[in-house]
Amino acid sequence: MPGNLIKLRFTLNERSAILQCHPGTRLLDILRDDFGLKGTREGCARGECGACLVLMNGVPVNSCLIPAFTLSDAEILTIEGIHSLKSLADIRKFLPEKDTFRCGFCSSGIQVSLTAMMLVNPDPNQEEIRQALSGNLCACGNYGGVVAEIIERNSRKRKYARKRSERS
Ligand code: FES
Ligand code: FES
Repeated sequence: MPGNLIKLRFTLNERSAILQCHPGTRLLDILRDDFGLKGTREGCARGECGACLVLMNGVPVNSCLIPAFTLSDAEILTIEGIHSLKSLADIRKFLPEKDTFRCGFCSSGIQVSLTAMMLVNPDPNQEEIRQALSGNLCACGNYGGVVAEIIERNSRKRKYARKRSERS
């Protein structure tokens, strides 16, 4: 890729990251090639499928469309961070399990979208869950199964919270 290199400092999964790269390098390639975070996947490469979703400053973005020069001081959270960070342990309990998916290709993007939703709305209804997943394409057609599982998990969570408050 032609052009000068830029030096970037940003936060990646709650740790500071420094990188030298071309300004137009895609965030998707930075994550996969420079940081070995292969959970962020490349599908359409056009911003349509959501396979490459990550959180940037708390907002889901398609990393295939994000150029490196926009990353200075940004906070990036990938599926690896969602699966491992202590700060997200509560949210993790309500994300779909591996066997909810068929091939699993869409799973990272879907979990990123759901995490973004639950960070601001920990008790979503069916419509809000569907809305949160509107940027995710499941080529296996299992979208309904994922939504159903999230609804089920959240209704269990509500029942549990109700029982606890009745006991106290
Ligand atoms: S690979 Fe980025 S939206 Fe499809
Ligand atoms: S489970 Fe295969 S793409 Fe969604």
